[in-house]
Amino acid sequence: MGEASSSGLDGVVVADTNISDVDGERGHLVIAGSPVEQLATQHGFETVAARVLAAGGHTIDPGAFRSLLGRAREVAWELIPRLGDALDAADGMEALRASLAHLRASGEDGADAVAAIGSAAVYAAAWSRKRAGQVPIAPSAQLDHAADYLRMSRGTTPSPEAVRALDAYLVTVIDHGMNASTFTARVITSTGSDLISAIVGAVGALKGPLHGGAPGPVLDMLDAIGKPAQAESWILDELAAGHRIMGMGHRIYRVRDPRAAVLETAVKALASDRLELARAVEQAAAKILRERKPDRPLAANVEFYTAVLLDGVGLPREQFSPTFAVGRVAGWSAHVIEQRRTGRLIRPGSRYVGGLTAI
Ligand code: COA
Repeated sequence: MGEASSSGLDGVVVADTNISDVDGERGHLVIAGSPVEQLATQHGFETVAARVLAAGGHTIDPGAFRSLLGRAREVAWELIPRLGDALDAADGMEALRASLAHLRASGEDGADAVAAIGSAAVYAAAWSRKRAGQVPIAPSAQLDHAADYLRMSRGTTPSPEAVRALDAYLVTVIDHGMNASTFTARVITSTGSDLISAIVGAVGALKGPLHGGAPGPVLDMLDAIGKPAQAESWILDELAAGHRIMGMGHRIYRVRDPRAAVLETAVKALASDRLELARAVEQAAAKILRERKPDRPLAANVEFYTAVLLDGVGLPREQFSPTFAVGRVAGWSAHVIEQRRTGRLIRPGSRYVGGLTAI
């Protein structure tokens, strides 16, 4: 572990990893050895998830992974009657955390990873349907993961364009360096605990609005703005009220988040009527924030076009954060596997700043 400064843990290196690399200055993201732009346009979720798991240390053939994942969705579905009221939670991340907690850890990380990845999709979709007063839909092991997730969520066969766009999204968010939820998963693993516990903890970390919760509010913002011509005045009012512009700014990136460009391209194929508005809002926000904060580059982050994409494929905004977890669970799993190989307990220090009082 490196030294933490008194101002925080930003940038402290806590692990060597093969899984992904975030270059915040240049705006590059490499996942399992390939640029995110290449992965998201040329490969589907199963292929990239298998690569990410292999980068973590669990080699698995993508074809075999695809059929194991289909079976894992079926097993997750069969477990639903034993989830108690987990899927009745008002919040989708709470439902996901509670339902995944029911999975039994086998103690074999590779098998548990497949179970967790399959289950996250089934439970996020089932929760969303229950929330809307609809009956959950059983998985189909023959379909690709993205196609099955959309079908289980919407109840209809999705268009190939929608499946491709969702696939690009799941690949794009599959891993992103040592973010808060990934670190959580690694800390839990480092104690010798099991993969399912690590995933449940990671879901808890992702639930926080500073980590995975902005795409819903981005959509609210686009709705409130309504027309491109109103973008500038709405943003000025919002900043005057002391609010932040959702979907803008990032802790690591000092340029536009590369994932924003990947998702913006993927949205084009959907003919979403929100794309033109989103671009106008991004331009206006970037211009105003540049003027206000010339020393602090604040550009679009992944969540800006996530909102447009997930809305465009027909998912309700309440399901956006759980859908982030449906992709990221593969990255978390790879980190668990990689962390296990180091066998070292993560035990950061703290600086005591209290006094000493004789009692
Ligand atoms: N809109 C307006 N101002 C913003 C801003 C935004 N989206 N993001 C940062 N700023 C401002 C802050 O107010 C701060 O100004 P100050 O120095 O006058 O107080 C300055 O930029 C630096 O912000 P800071 O809080 O240090 O940045 P951070 O690295 O902690 O924040 C985020 C990163 C992502 C939390 C932040 O940019 C944000 O809240 N964005 C909106 C929410 C969002 O899109 N989250 C998804 C992230 S993937």
